[in-house]
Amino acid sequence: GAPVEVDLSPIAEGQIVKVFWRGKLIFIRNRTPAEIKAAEDVDVATLRDPQPDSARVKPGHAQWLVVYGNCTHLGCVPLGHQGAYEGWFCPCHGSVFDTSGRVRGGPAPINLPIPPYTFTSDTKIVIG
Ligand code: FES
Repeated sequence: GAPVEVDLSPIAEGQIVKVFWRGKLIFIRNRTPAEIKAAEDVDVATLRDPQPDSARVKPGHAQWLVVYGNCTHLGCVPLGHQGAYEGWFCPCHGSVFDTSGRVRGGPAPINLPIPPYTFTSDTKIVIG
Protein backbone atom coordinates (compact mmCIF):
# COMPACT_ATOMS: atom_id res chain seq x y z
CA GLY A 1 0.00 0.00 0.00
CA ALA A 2 0.97 3.61 -0.52
CA PRO A 3 2.42 5.59 2.37
CA VAL A 4 -0.10 7.68 4.30
CA GLU A 5 0.68 11.23 5.35
CA VAL A 6 -0.96 12.41 8.57
CA ASP A 7 -1.17 16.02 9.72
CA LEU A 8 -0.78 15.92 13.50
CA SER A 9 -1.64 19.58 14.12
CA PRO A 10 -5.42 19.04 14.60
CA ILE A 11 -4.87 16.30 17.21
CA ALA A 12 -5.36 17.80 20.65
CA GLU A 13 -3.27 16.86 23.64
CA GLY A 14 -4.74 13.71 25.13
CA GLN A 15 -6.58 12.78 21.94
CA ILE A 16 -6.30 9.48 20.05
CA VAL A 17 -7.12 9.36 16.35
CA LYS A 18 -7.53 6.33 14.10
CA VAL A 19 -6.08 6.05 10.63
CA PHE A 20 -5.73 3.17 8.22
CA TRP A 21 -2.61 2.02 6.41
CA ARG A 22 -2.55 -1.10 4.23
CA GLY A 23 -6.00 -1.90 5.58
CA LYS A 24 -4.70 -1.96 9.13
CA LEU A 25 -6.03 0.23 11.93
CA ILE A 26 -3.45 2.52 13.52
CA PHE A 27 -3.83 4.70 16.63
CA ILE A 28 -2.04 8.03 16.83
CA ARG A 29 -2.02 9.35 20.37
CA ASN A 30 -0.97 12.82 21.45
CA ARG A 31 0.15 11.94 24.95
CA THR A 32 -0.13 14.30 27.88
CA PRO A 33 2.95 15.01 30.01
CA ALA A 34 1.48 12.75 32.72
CA GLU A 35 0.93 9.93 30.22
CA ILE A 36 4.50 10.25 28.96
CA LYS A 37 5.87 10.24 32.51
CA ALA A 38 3.81 7.17 33.42
CA ALA A 39 5.14 5.36 30.36
CA GLU A 40 8.75 6.35 31.06
CA ASP A 41 8.69 5.57 34.79
CA VAL A 42 7.89 1.87 34.40
CA ASP A 43 10.49 -0.67 35.51
CA VAL A 44 10.96 -2.37 32.15
CA ALA A 45 12.08 -5.62 33.80
CA THR A 46 8.54 -6.08 35.15
CA LEU A 47 6.98 -6.07 31.69
CA ARG A 48 5.76 -9.15 29.81
CA ASP A 49 7.22 -7.73 26.59
CA PRO A 50 10.04 -5.56 27.96
CA GLN A 51 10.53 -2.40 25.92
CA PRO A 52 11.43 1.05 27.23
CA ASP A 53 9.07 3.80 26.16
CA SER A 54 12.01 5.48 24.43
CA ALA A 55 12.20 2.55 22.01
CA ARG A 56 8.54 3.01 21.07
CA VAL A 57 8.57 6.68 20.09
CA LYS A 58 10.79 8.80 17.87
CA PRO A 59 13.59 10.81 19.50
CA GLY A 60 12.36 14.30 20.36
CA HIS A 61 8.73 13.32 19.72
CA ALA A 62 7.80 11.53 22.94
CA GLN A 63 4.35 13.09 22.92
CA TRP A 64 3.39 11.04 19.85
CA LEU A 65 2.65 7.34 20.17
CA VAL A 66 1.85 5.52 16.91
CA VAL A 67 0.74 1.88 17.29
CA TYR A 68 -1.29 -0.71 15.44
CA GLY A 69 -4.86 -0.61 16.72
CA ASN A 70 -5.68 -4.28 17.05
CA CYS A 71 -5.20 -6.26 20.24
CA THR A 72 -2.29 -8.67 20.02
CA HIS A 73 -4.46 -11.42 21.53
CA LEU A 74 -7.17 -12.02 18.92
CA GLY A 75 -7.43 -8.71 17.15
CA CYS A 76 -10.25 -6.79 18.80
CA VAL A 77 -10.01 -3.01 18.94
CA PRO A 78 -8.96 -1.85 22.42
CA LEU A 79 -10.65 1.20 23.96
CA GLY A 80 -8.45 4.22 24.61
CA HIS A 81 -8.00 5.93 27.99
CA GLN A 82 -9.36 2.87 29.77
CA GLY A 83 -7.98 0.11 31.96
CA ALA A 84 -5.77 0.30 35.02
CA TYR A 85 -3.03 2.25 33.22
CA GLU A 86 -5.40 4.49 31.23
CA GLY A 87 -3.72 3.39 28.03
CA TRP A 88 -6.11 0.95 26.34
CA PHE A 89 -8.43 -1.80 27.53
CA CYS A 90 -9.52 -4.62 25.26
CA PRO A 91 -13.19 -5.43 25.88
CA CYS A 92 -12.98 -8.90 24.32
CA HIS A 93 -10.92 -10.74 26.94
CA GLY A 94 -9.59 -8.01 29.18
CA SER A 95 -6.11 -7.23 27.97
CA VAL A 96 -4.70 -4.04 29.48
CA PHE A 97 -2.20 -1.74 27.75
CA ASP A 98 -0.35 1.25 29.17
CA THR A 99 0.20 4.70 27.67
CA SER A 100 3.07 3.25 25.64
CA GLY A 101 0.79 0.54 24.22
CA ARG A 102 2.63 -2.13 26.18
CA VAL A 103 0.68 -5.09 27.50
CA ARG A 104 0.23 -4.90 31.28
CA GLY A 105 -2.41 -7.56 31.89
CA GLY A 106 -4.79 -10.04 30.32
CA PRO A 107 -4.03 -12.59 27.59
CA ALA A 108 -2.29 -10.38 24.99
CA PRO A 109 1.21 -11.86 24.49
CA ILE A 110 3.03 -8.79 23.19
CA ASN A 111 2.84 -5.00 23.06
CA LEU A 112 0.86 -3.19 20.39
CA PRO A 113 3.38 -3.11 17.53
CA ILE A 114 4.74 0.09 16.03
CA PRO A 115 4.19 0.57 12.30
CA PRO A 116 6.98 2.04 10.17
CA TYR A 117 6.72 5.82 10.09
CA THR A 118 8.86 8.94 9.94
CA PHE A 119 8.42 12.57 10.89
CA THR A 120 8.63 14.81 7.82
CA SER A 121 8.14 17.93 9.98
CA ASP A 122 7.26 18.60 13.62
CA THR A 123 3.58 18.22 12.77
CA LYS A 124 3.56 15.61 10.01
CA ILE A 125 4.28 11.92 9.81
CA VAL A 126 4.33 9.53 6.90
CA ILE A 127 3.30 5.97 7.70
CA GLY A 128 4.81 3.37 5.43
FE1 FES B 1 -8.05 -8.42 23.12
FE2 FES B 1 -8.57 -11.01 23.42
S1 FES B 1 -8.70 -9.84 21.62
S2 FES B 1 -7.99 -9.57 24.93
